[in-house]
Amino acid sequence: LGWEPLAGRRALVTAGPTHEPVDPVRYLGNRSSGLQGYAIAAALVVLGARVTLVSGPVSLADPAGVNVVRVETGLEMERAVRAALPVDIAVCAAAVADWRVDGISGRKLKKRADMAPPVLTLVPNPDILAILSAPGPERPTLVVGFAAETDDVEVNAVAKRTRKGCDWIVANDVSAGTNVMGGPDNRAVLITEDGIERWPLLPKADLARRLAQRIAARFEAPVMA
Ligand code: C5P
Repeated sequence: LGWEPLAGRRALVTAGPTHEPVDPVRYLGNRSSGLQGYAIAAALVVLGARVTLVSGPVSLADPAGVNVVRVETGLEMERAVRAALPVDIAVCAAAVADWRVDGISGRKLKKRADMAPPVLTLVPNPDILAILSAPGPERPTLVVGFAAETDDVEVNAVAKRTRKGCDWIVANDVSAGTNVMGGPDNRAVLITEDGIERWPLLPKADLARRLAQRIAARFEAPVMA
């Protein structure tokens, strides 16, 4: 590979959780740290790409040389992703909440002894990976999704690649004891159009570098349509 094999390429990375408000002080969220997505954004910059990182709420500093757009909710993430298009490469590492609260209260919900607890109605959030993967003039050349699986990692990831319509899936085993969620290391299986690559347990920064190198190789040897 050359020194900056992704020079002139534009990349979009999503990272972190989303927070879905219940009322002005409460939200539904998840335990995504954003580490893996931030590391991927940094690794793509090192290879010469111009990178926009759309990040949910995390306690990580902006990676050097990356254009960071900070959002809270899934709907805000979708809007920021659309605004970042067109790009050549999209990597969806964010743990977007599957649902948001329908009818967010403008006032703090009050606890009252004489009233039943509130019931939250949830509605689906947009699937940003599926939106990016849909055919159209703005579809990135390469769309990469993640799959956090606890069972049958490879079978489920292959199915997810088809269902979402993305080009590659990075599948992680997040079953109990792996310490992948929030932990320093990650073990990935990369599902591409050519098959399955099983990668060793790696620090998240090394996994990010490996994925960025793999993306660069894909752009040096473009797949014929
Ligand atoms: O099956 P699941 O929807 O969890 O697939 C995970 C993949 O989809 C990840 O790449 C994640 O970033 C992406 N995703 C998304 N928007 C959603 C849900 C998942 O981009 N609303």
